Amino acid sequence: MSLTEPQGSPVAAGPLAGSDGVVTEQVVVLDYGGQYSQLIARRVRECGVFSTLLPHHVGPDEVARRKPLGLILSGGPASVYADGAPRLDPALLQLGIPVLGICYGMQLIARELGGRVEGAEVGEYGRSQLTVHDHGRLLADTPDEQACWMSHRDTVFAPPPGFDALASSTASPVAAIESVERGIYGIQFHPEVVHTPYGQQVLRNFLINICGAAGTWSARSVIQEQIERIREQVGDGRALCALSGGVDSSVAALLVHQAIGDRLVCVFVDHGLMRKDEGAQVISTFKDHFHVPLIAVDAEERYLEKLRGVVDPEQKRKIIGTEFIRIFEEEAAKLDGIRFLVQGTLYSDVIESGGGTGTATIKSHHNVGGLPDDLEFELVEPLRSLFKDEVRAVGAELGMPERLVWRQPFPGPGLAIRVVGGEVTKEKLDVLREADAILQDEIRRAGLYRELWQSFCVLPDVRAVGVQGDERTYGNVIAIRAVTSDDAMTADWARLPYDLLEQIASRMINEIRPVGRVVLDITSKPPGTIEWE
Ligand code: XMP
Repeated sequence: MSLTEPQGSPVAAGPLAGSDGVVTEQVVVLDYGGQYSQLIARRVRECGVFSTLLPHHVGPDEVARRKPLGLILSGGPASVYADGAPRLDPALLQLGIPVLGICYGMQLIARELGGRVEGAEVGEYGRSQLTVHDHGRLLADTPDEQACWMSHRDTVFAPPPGFDALASSTASPVAAIESVERGIYGIQFHPEVVHTPYGQQVLRNFLINICGAAGTWSARSVIQEQIERIREQVGDGRALCALSGGVDSSVAALLVHQAIGDRLVCVFVDHGLMRKDEGAQVISTFKDHFHVPLIAVDAEERYLEKLRGVVDPEQKRKIIGTEFIRIFEEEAAKLDGIRFLVQGTLYSDVIESGGGTGTATIKSHHNVGGLPDDLEFELVEPLRSLFKDEVRAVGAELGMPERLVWRQPFPGPGLAIRVVGGEVTKEKLDVLREADAILQDEIRRAGLYRELWQSFCVLPDVRAVGVQGDERTYGNVIAIRAVTSDDAMTADWARLPYDLLEQIASRMINEIRPVGRVVLDITSKPPGTIEWE
């Protein structure tokens, strides 16, 4: 499936794209399967230029249809000589727009246009030193000697005829090429990673000086453009949004509210599995602060009843998911004439659900807050072209409280999947909520909240002996789980300072009566998962 036919949505429009995918100022990044392709797309946006990431096989017509100002060919894991390696369609070099090849992208260009590319004896991986002989247009305003990040075995030994060789590196005789006349450029190094300190300058040279982009894309321009799009789509209709309290659905709801005002109605289902005070915070933020029409459903008892006696994690997820849909449908049925449903789908979801080149790992979508496909709504997905950090920037620009903008991911089934090994009861949830509140409080105070992908507590169904005063106790065990991650696909356990851990453990045991012992989970993903079940 290609990104040009977004899945599951009758409305193909991205936030900045009309239904035809054409936007005023964009650059297309063709993904040749490199691990950094998404990062390239993000770095382009950080230069103030909207970017679209497309699989390499979409072909020149699809690229041209989007009327981009420039084209970037990403890196990729293949050798240009390998059987089945992605090829370069020469028509991509004849679209009349500047082209920049990065790593594999540069090798494809060099090979196609008659340069000499060969598999080298030794590869060049990691930090390398770049020596610039001729800055040309591409390397303008960067030093003669600079560090860069390399990851390749095939190497360009001679540029194609008519091209200037701009730089060399430790193991690459030709590490940057350009032909101003043909508007074709190439770099062997990765400008998108932080280990290439002048990488952003090189990208800016390409985007602003060579492609002529204005570089004015920003959270503010996203909001303006998106509001127009939503108005165009919804007309004088009404829209419904299932608010979870997470950053994605919150930003989506606020954008739509700015566009159509009170013709948006939000439904927030408090399943009683939220963290401490979270339900109240969602209600006060949206209802009192932003004055968004909000139906808040207190469904705690209903959920506890359904979860009684259930221990199996997948059964829990199923029950919670089904109940959510039921409640949402009940509320929707009470409202007349609603044709649109707002969803906080992100660009990474779009890419993961088939927009990549087949090399991307497919994430299992176990989002129990998800709604079934057969709901008869037209989807409004204002975040469909945005990466998570861009959604946060839009949220901040819309005046969302910092706490909400930077909220760590929280699973749809909430604390229910953190009460493990026994049935979920109100008492256990309360213990877990208190422990979690202490953990979050201490982590925020230590200034570490944003550095962690997630931090939370788990309550296993075991008790441990202790002594408190002169008494022997038999208390709950709380496990602390804190991880760093970029995308939840892999994660590392966070090395929280010992003093902080001590403070957390001692507060939990002193302040929460049933808690007798605190342990730390030091499992990475893989082999573990982030959640315990
Ligand atoms: P795991 O535990 O698979 O989690 O490493 C990866 C990410 O997904 C979240 N997660 C869920 N999110 N419903 C959700 O909406 C779920 O059932 C669910 N299970 C795990 C988890 O918190 C982590 O961010």
